[in-house]
Amino acid sequence: PGPADYQAEDAAISQGAVESNHAGFTGAGFVNYDNLAGSYVEFTVNAAKAGPATLTLRYANGTTSGRPMDITVNGTLAAGELAFDPTGAWTTWTTRTVTVQLNAGANTIRAAAATAGGGPNLDRISL
Ligand code: GCU
Ligand code: CA
Ligand code: CA
Repeated sequence: PGPADYQAEDAAISQGAVESNHAGFTGAGFVNYDNLAGSYVEFTVNAAKAGPATLTLRYANGTTSGRPMDITVNGTLAAGELAFDPTGAWTTWTTRTVTVQLNAGANTIRAAAATAGGGPNLDRISL
């Protein structure tokens, strides 16, 4: 099967809000992370088999500063301070990919703001 989409607005959110005031998102909206370190969105995803998978995160960052996030898979750090560079506008969305190791069946993927600026606005992940 091809990649499956998991909308951020449907995931578990800690210190963030579902919003829809910046066009270009998919689904029903996006998550606006609170602007502090540790705010996160956590997805439960399914994998047909164990092994590496390409995780794609779709985001916007309308500031002029990076919004790095720590990507944790099943409680283990998979990518520390993964860069989410400025996209030029909050309505300009782009993707960032990272390879992660998944278990067969259910997996938890958390994208947590690594710095005091918080995360970018997150639309969805795909894998
Ligand atoms: C603005 C923008 C938000 C964004 C925030 C931020 O308030 O409207 O969508 O999340 O900036 O800097 O994080
Ligand atoms: Ca924010
Ligand atoms: Ca979305």
